[in-house]
This record gives sequence, C-alpha cells and structure tokens, in this order.
Amino acid sequence: MNTSNCRVSGQPLEIAVDFGLQPLGNGFLQPEQFPGEFRYPMAVGFCETSMMLQLVEQPSPEQMFHEQYAFYSSTSQHMQYHFGDFARQVMGMGVLSKTDPFVVELGCNDGIMLRNFANAGIRHLGIEPSRNVAEVANSHGVRTISEFFCHQLAMDIVAKDGQADAFLAANVMCHIPTIVDVASGISKLLKPTGVAIFEDPYLGDVVEKTSYDQIYDEHVFLFSAHSVQYLFRQQGMELIDVQAQKTHGGSMRYVIAHAGAYPVKDSVNRLLEKEKAIGLNRMATFRKFSQQVEQSRTELIKLLTGIKAEGKRIAGYGATSKSTTILNYCGIGTDLIDYISDTTPIKQGKFSPGMHIPIKPYDFFMASPPDYAMLFAWNHAEEIMAKERAFIENGGRWIVHVPEVRVLG
Ligand code: SAH
Ligand code: TMP
Repeated sequence: MNTSNCRVSGQPLEIAVDFGLQPLGNGFLQPEQFPGEFRYPMAVGFCETSMMLQLVEQPSPEQMFHEQYAFYSSTSQHMQYHFGDFARQVMGMGVLSKTDPFVVELGCNDGIMLRNFANAGIRHLGIEPSRNVAEVANSHGVRTISEFFCHQLAMDIVAKDGQADAFLAANVMCHIPTIVDVASGISKLLKPTGVAIFEDPYLGDVVEKTSYDQIYDEHVFLFSAHSVQYLFRQQGMELIDVQAQKTHGGSMRYVIAHAGAYPVKDSVNRLLEKEKAIGLNRMATFRKFSQQVEQSRTELIKLLTGIKAEGKRIAGYGATSKSTTILNYCGIGTDLIDYISDTTPIKQGKFSPGMHIPIKPYDFFMASPPDYAMLFAWNHAEEIMAKERAFIENGGRWIVHVPEVRVLG
C-alpha cells in the first residue's frame, strides 16, 4: 500500500528517513524461501497537518497478519502482568455498565488481555485476523473472531452484540493503514458513554531514544497526543486522558470518548505542551531525527566490527520484528552475529528476515553463550536482565543501541 499523501489528512508527506529495501519484520523463513524473498522500500514521512509520522509504503495487511503470525503476546511474563493491570484499571474506571457490560478488543492476539475479562465473566469480543493466535485466544475461553477490524465490521458487531462500553487496543492501532475508517468504526461501536483506550509505542520516546527500530512494516504510524487528537476530532470524539507506559520501550495510553461525554484531564494539555516544546508537531524534528538514526547506525557497525576483530562471539537476544530494521538497515549478517536466541517456537530453526541469521532456541543460548549478546528485545530489558544474571556473572556482556550504542557493565 503506497502513498505520497498522509493517510489521515490527505496532504503531501515529506520524507523523513529512508531505510532502503526491507523485508517483512516478522518474515522469518527457511533457506528454500531465500530466493525471491519479499522486500519493499521502507521510508517514513511526516505530515505537518495531521502530525502523523507514517510509512510511505507498507506491505498489505494480509502479507503480515495470517495463520502463521510469529508474534505471541504471552511469551512475555511481564506483558501478562501489564495487561492484567490494564484490564483491572478498565474494570475500575466506572465506564462498564452494571447490568450487561460489553468490551471489544482489537488485535487481542492470544487473549493476553481479554482473558482477564473472560475470567471475570464480562461479555467480550476479540478481533484478531491472525488465525493461529486467535485460536489460542479461543482455546483460553476468549471469544474471538478472525477478521480485520473496519467500519463495516463495527456496524456488524453493533447489529449482533450491541454497542460497547469499552473498546481496547494495544500495539495494533499503529498497525492499521486505514486508520480513519477504523476511527469511524470506533465512533459507531461505542455507546454514548463508552470509551476507547489504546496504547502504542510513543513517538516522543522514539525521537528521544533514537529507537528507530520501532519503525518496521507493521508500524505504519507512530502516534503522539497531537496526531491522535487530530484523528479522533475528525470523528466527533476527543482525547480525554493520556498515561505514559514503560512497555515496548516507551508507550502512551490514550483515552478517547465522544466529545463532551467526559471532562478532559489536565494530563492531555500537559502532554500537548510538552510535545510542542520537543517539536513532535514539526517536520524539522524529523530531519534531525534522521541524522541521529544515521549516527546510531555508524556507531553500531563500528562497535560490532571492533568486537568481532578481537575474535569474540556475538549473538542476538530476542528475534524481534524491531531487529529486522536494525539488521537490514545496518547490513548486519552472520559475519557479525552468529545466531539470535528466541523463546518463540515458531521462529526457531528459521532464519531472520533479509539478513538470514539463524534463530536458535533459548537452550542453545544457555548451552553456547556468546561473549556478547546484542539485546534486540531491549523493550523487555528489565525482565531479561533479571533472568540472565548468570550470563553476566560468567563474563558475558550486553550490547544495546538505545538510548545510545554501548556495551553495558
Ligand atoms: N495486543 C497484543 C498484540 C499486538 S500485535 C499485544 O499488545 O501484545 C498486533 C496484533 O494486531 C496482531 O496479532 C495482528 O494480527 C492484529 N491486527 C493487525 N491488524 C488488525 C486489524 N485491522 N484488526 C484487528 N487486529 C489486527
Ligand atoms: P517484542 O519486542 O515484539 O515484544 O518481541 C520480543 C521477542 O523476544 C519475542 O520473539 C520473544 C523474545 N523473547 C525472548 O527470546 N526471551 C525473553 O526473555 C523475552 C522477554 C522475549
């Protein structure tokens, strides 16, 4: 899906960063699939009207989300706690009707959040196009349909189940190119007193930490309070609260309601002011970001090449979709990184998209620890550092690239 115009305002996009040809972020593959591997030109552009940073070109949703989707949300214990808390907060907000509440979640994946509502006996519906993960959700008692959410589906849900008290989404709104149609669907799906609560990686964190690896095929947008406000105002809705989250290296939770239904919290204006101060509403910020991205690449290649020249072994930790951007943009292959360890069975035994580094199970990392581990799953750093004390005690060292390229310890 190509555009030279903003998907939200229709105004021309200005290119901010060009990452060259990139494969699918989650396109782990077997050697027989190397020839003809899919690649597309990945660049992000900015629109000063909608203030949306967005991919210029994106593979089709069906190419990315299907019955072999490689990302299972529940692989992270920490995210299970996070979504348990999220669910409890929604239950305690006072927005769920007392008689027969109804909660809809977009991109519920393996049911990591909705299972909390299912366990509490709350009527719910998950919408999850990737059939393999949707099946896991259903097997946990989470009522899930395997579809792409859109305005029409929202109308169908209203006809069958009625309007929702709460519409939830985590790390999925930023995946959807037809976001205007989705926002319009949300406005129809929600009761007059309903709220939409969603969280996604936050543009402010990406700029501040030069975490350019948040940019990959699935993340068609990186949101800010400015851009979210612009998007929902078009639908007669408003941003009533924002809450910063530590997850995924810095995320923002946005609370949206029909205009006038609830007071707007001070947090919204505070964040809008902060965003103006750091320039998230201006193109100039992204020109500077582009230079920071290039510098980060130069430093990472220098660090890895230097370590390798000393005869040390480097492995990757976490075959994240984010790592696909780093590896392909920096041109890092098996000359520098021997293998990537990952706990997700569907990725193991395959090779990383584009640069074809072997993906090994965690047991392999334990049995054959490298001298240095590049922390591709840096967004799970706390959880990983806590369980990898032995790696450090035995002389292993971590390489990170955010907020700057360095060796830890
Ligand atoms: N909410 C989970 C999963 C995030 S990954 C979490 O935070 O861990 C994004 C998920 O959104 C994938 O499972 C993908 O299949 C799903 N998705 C992508 N496009 C979608 C759409 N249009 N409607 C509903 N779900 C979608
Ligand atoms: P994410 O950054 O998109 O959440 O993906 C994290 C990936 O890292 C996922 O493939 C699972 C993997 N992983 C590990 O291998 N070990 C771990 O301890 C954690 C938390 C994740």
